[in-house]
Amino acid sequence: MYGTITIDGAKNSLLPIMTACLMVNGSVRLRHVPQITDLRQMLHILAGLGCHIHRQSDTVKIDVQRPTTHQIDATAARQIRGSIFVMGALLARLGAVKLPYPGGCSIGSRPIDLHLNLLRQIGVKIKTSATTITATYTPKPKRRTTVLTLDFPSVGATENIIQATTLGCAGNTYQIIGVAKEPEIVDLCNFLNQCGAQITGAGTDTITVTSVAQLHGTDYTPIPDRINTGTYLIAVTATGGDVILRNVVPAHNVNLINKLKLLGAKITTSTDTLHIIAKRRRHHNFMVHTAPYPGFPTDLQSQFCVLLALTHGRSTITENLFENRFRYLPELIKLGAKITIQGNQAHICGVTELQAQPTPNLCPSAYRVPAPAVCTGTKLNATDLRGGVALVIAALATKGTCTIDHADYIARGHQDIVKDLQQLGANIVALP
Ligand code: UD1
Repeated sequence: MYGTITIDGAKNSLLPIMTACLMVNGSVRLRHVPQITDLRQMLHILAGLGCHIHRQSDTVKIDVQRPTTHQIDATAARQIRGSIFVMGALLARLGAVKLPYPGGCSIGSRPIDLHLNLLRQIGVKIKTSATTITATYTPKPKRRTTVLTLDFPSVGATENIIQATTLGCAGNTYQIIGVAKEPEIVDLCNFLNQCGAQITGAGTDTITVTSVAQLHGTDYTPIPDRINTGTYLIAVTATGGDVILRNVVPAHNVNLINKLKLLGAKITTSTDTLHIIAKRRRHHNFMVHTAPYPGFPTDLQSQFCVLLALTHGRSTITENLFENRFRYLPELIKLGAKITIQGNQAHICGVTELQAQPTPNLCPSAYRVPAPAVCTGTKLNATDLRGGVALVIAALATKGTCTIDHADYIARGHQDIVKDLQQLGANIVALP
């Protein structure tokens, strides 16, 4: 692959930033917002809560005077995991919320006990039924700092409690210990501080929030999507090439970049660009463990596994966060990858090349890689966003043609992956 690509704003930053807009009195302008399914669903939820949304190119303007209801549209909420962030924001703004259990990619059981435990620690009253969560909250003035503890650094639970405590009785202080340190958490706090919030410590494992009585509008550019950045770095390493990625924060991908360098990729960085040149890959054995930031991201596990499947050496990937994150592996094995699964570990013996085999019957939402005149090749099934992207990388590196079904999963996080890859010279088409 050869050329230049520009990375969009981060989906996982924009989801909580959009819900945080529910706490603002006024207008928020968000820049670099990609047109992806998850963000569209979130904007639909906000519109249902009384926000006025206006999109022009990649800028979205969200106007909120006061949310008109505390009940969230059930159908939209069930589509995305990010709908759970509405809880903290609406509790802070209206003192009440009613929502269904959140949906999202089926990568694991995805409980919300950590979210609810933190909210209970500040005095939120929560009732759950088989389908719905109802909660109410009346913050009271406190004379001393309330210390909250999180048993595992859940990204979502951290983002929810930050929102629930940002707006409230001015001067109440909450010290939240054991929080997640992901760049998206820092981004949410930067956004809220720009709206008048008082939050310190983001990016460390203790965040302190001093509640304010009101937040004002702002103009904000979220961080670039580090997962999509990493995905393209892996794709170039897997297929070879010379690519410049613009609008990136290289520091957010250090863990991955160091691994790609061990495989022989030459990567140089400036403030907001990454230049990767990948030729022949070096033999290497990896022991990769997915972990909260700054550990290796679970959202890059499947893409990196494809690379290891194509690299001489024996490697093990341990998936520590989501139990269903190996569902793409049987698809990779169809292409000749030598991988065995033992519980949450994938043992990979790298092969020289992957090879497509013909299979019939295509599903309507599909990509074909490379783009042939007739419909042949191995049919691969995407089962979630990142697993689907991994199959695209595998297909690009495979000898022969592959068709990826259920490609709509990929649209949850990529505005147009086919166009991006075509721009870099990849042989890929979207099927109607
Ligand atoms: C976020 C990201 C997702 C990423 C994940 C881990 C968004 C919208 N999604 O998901 O892309 O893969 O971080 O980096 O930002 N857990 C519990 N109870 C809870 C909450 C979480 O047991 O109440 C567990 C989860 O099952 C998982 C682990 O904690 O094993 C991490 O989950 P969490 O950090 O909360 O991920 P999400 O916020 O769902």
